[in-house]
Amino acid sequence: MFEQMPRGSRRRFLATAAAAAGVAAVGLPRVAIAAPPRLKIGLMLPFSGTYAIHGETVADAIKLRVAELGGKLGGAEVEFVRVDDESSPPKAKDNAAKLIVKEGVDVLIGTIHSGVAEAMVQVAREEGTLTLVPNAGSNRITRALCAPNIFRTSFSNWQANQPGGPMVLDAGHRNVVLMSWNYAAGKEMMEGFRESFTAGGGTVVKEFMPDFPKDEFQPYLTEIAALKPDAVYAFYSGGGALKFIKDYAAAGLQGKIPLYGPGFLTDGVLNAAGPAAEGITTVLHYASTLDNPINKKFRADFEKTSGREVDVFAVQAYDAASLLAQGLAAVEGDIKARKALFAAMEKAEIDSPRGKFRFSRAHNPIQDFYLRRVENGEEKVLGIAAKAVEDPATGCKA
Ligand code: PHB
Repeated sequence: MFEQMPRGSRRRFLATAAAAAGVAAVGLPRVAIAAPPRLKIGLMLPFSGTYAIHGETVADAIKLRVAELGGKLGGAEVEFVRVDDESSPPKAKDNAAKLIVKEGVDVLIGTIHSGVAEAMVQVAREEGTLTLVPNAGSNRITRALCAPNIFRTSFSNWQANQPGGPMVLDAGHRNVVLMSWNYAAGKEMMEGFRESFTAGGGTVVKEFMPDFPKDEFQPYLTEIAALKPDAVYAFYSGGGALKFIKDYAAAGLQGKIPLYGPGFLTDGVLNAAGPAAEGITTVLHYASTLDNPINKKFRADFEKTSGREVDVFAVQAYDAASLLAQGLAAVEGDIKARKALFAAMEKAEIDSPRGKFRFSRAHNPIQDFYLRRVENGEEKVLGIAAKAVEDPATGCKA
């Protein structure tokens, strides 16, 4: 009902209805009548397993942004409900339903794992719940599964690995071994890399894809030492990435066979990896050392409030809260004014620690990718690997 009303008329309606019901006559202050209800945000994230560190980081970064905005979004007090999705695709639909149907959240934010996110998004599409994806890169989310109520503030798996081919070729490498986990994100990331790498004349000599989240890397690393490729391109993340980086160094491959990947390989685990991460070269839409005032402030504030190193997961989540804040501000906190809310979010420009960005028609960021190398324990920015990369949104009909 409120959806059809022009802006401002909802408050008048409420005031009139209250007066008609005799509320004003008993002297309740008007402000109590017009105050927006609490905004219930469901956080569907991994708080256990190999991606647990990312789940905590996403939750902390959202809270930081909300705290900066005075604890409110669109004038409403924010309340969080958390569900540990365990990075488990079979449990994903039930977990999404728990938040959307049982808890009745106004907004759903999740998740890290592509397979979980695909199932979650399907429930959110059916229920029409406003959903923000702060990480999972599943290409389908902003392709065939795109929808007016689904927004992503991170990347698509294709987008984050497309600049990888030229990165490795430009360094003079032609024969490469690929390594990842055998699930949606691992497969799409390796495919994104392979596409641009082979188009530029590169050859994939071997691909190792253990099941998610297995981290017994030793046998593969022994085989890589024997194969002697020019380089290795790998996607791992969270606890698995830390183990992979340490195992790679322990196997004697560090400095012998250069290690490349999307920047998820080092983000969030740089301090824990220590010297084993030195020299790893990656592309990503963020780097903790980016020299802009928003990033400097964000990095300091996040590290102070969370006690963890800042990373891309924190930025994507912080930006999800900014996007939601912009949308809700445009509708004066009226979450039911869906058309106007989605339109404002579509048009939003996010002043991100990664640099300013806008959204594609499928609601995925159009963004620059940085070339980065770990030097002296820091993510050094070597330059921009690719400018304004946009996922093609193939099959998005919304
Ligand atoms: C994913 O499953 O989409 C995913 C997980 C962890 C990352 C990046 C992507 O670091």
